Amino acid sequence: MYMNTEDQKKIAAEKATENVQSGMVVGLGTGSTVYYALLKLGKMLQEGLDIVGVPTSAGTEKIATAQQIPLATLTTHPSIDLTIDGADEVDAYLNLIKGGGAALVREKIIANASKKILIVVDESKVSRVLGTTFPLPVEIVQFGWESTQTEVNRICGKSTLRLTSTEAGNRHPLITDNGNYILDCHFDGIPVPQEIELQLNNIPGVVENGIFVNRADKIIIGTPSGIRYME
Ligand code: A5P
Repeated sequence: MYMNTEDQKKIAAEKATENVQSGMVVGLGTGSTVYYALLKLGKMLQEGLDIVGVPTSAGTEKIATAQQIPLATLTTHPSIDLTIDGADEVDAYLNLIKGGGAALVREKIIANASKKILIVVDESKVSRVLGTTFPLPVEIVQFGWESTQTEVNRICGKSTLRLTSTEAGNRHPLITDNGNYILDCHFDGIPVPQEIELQLNNIPGVVENGIFVNRADKIIIGTPSGIRYME
């Protein structure tokens, strides 16, 4: 059976939930792929699974609450057994670009607190060189953001302030869950991601960037013909 992108997201996310066991503290990622894992975890809870989830965004918190997933924070549960999260781009070394959903800061904090990380993606996210198919999100504080952007552009060449629309159709800067802005940085590829990750985070005003190196244990990829893994 041929699977379209939505099917690919669903099978990857549901496959990841097979690793969730009662008693676990589970990091709940953000995005349209993880959404299917949240739905599945909701069903598993109804069937007797006993977990607590730590959400990576206000959006995920809302969906998880609707699915009656018991929620906790890093304050009460500082160690996470397993995190299921999405990604915007993945390379063959399991490096990731994240933050398309503007949740990269909390996602990286939760990744850092996790014993195991499963990344769920559809096949379109797999890339030969990171930074060639998706702009790199960088979260910056609002104060002096133009100066921060100038410094960021010295590294990536060009970036754009992420905007969002009100219901009335007015455009304004997107504000993250942490009260910051996002710059989307347009690279012609990021061959050495660990260097760029550090260089960007060294700029005053940069809170965090969406490069995740050496964090994922396994990538679960939904493809048109089924599931494949990178680990
Ligand atoms: C959230 O900030 C991101 O890191 C998401 O995990 C990523 O954008 C994947 O989202 P989709 O599953 O919606 O593509």
